[in-house]
Amino acid sequence: MVQISPSFKIESETIDNDHRHLVEIINEITKAIDDGQPGECARLVPDFVAFTKQHFDREEALLAGLSYPLLEKHRRHHISLDDKLQIMLNLAARVVEHPPARDSLRKELVYFLLDDVINEDLNFKKFLAEVETDAAGSDK
Ligand SMILES: [Fe+2]
Ligand SMILES: [Fe+2]
Repeated sequence: MVQISPSFKIESETIDNDHRHLVEIINEITKAIDDGQPGECARLVPDFVAFTKQHFDREEALLAGLSYPLLEKHRRHHISLDDKLQIMLNLAARVVEHPPARDSLRKELVYFLLDDVINEDLNFKKFLAEVETDAAGSDK
């Protein structure tokens, strides 16, 4: 089971909830594979990819609303992950007939989520915390 450790929390409810949902889908995929139901990947992996893209849009909109200065860079990072998402879809299409693809898929998903999605988001964690502190200060 994959879990998000506290150091991987962004401390934004919207973003952390999305990341948690992505973890849940990965855990469902892992369970389906472990339970001998790799056919489920044909449904679950496209769900993962679709939700990831929605998450990127949501995250970019949130950052744009807060005038995050490095938004363009982060947007380009999201776009650069398209190839990896495509690789996961390709692997998912092969897992039933080609068992070694199951392990590759599982590893790709976990590394993708932890390294490419969450770890890169830690770049704006401090920015979000500062914006929040400023907003709290201006309420007084
Ligand atoms: Fe994210
Ligand atoms: Fe991101």
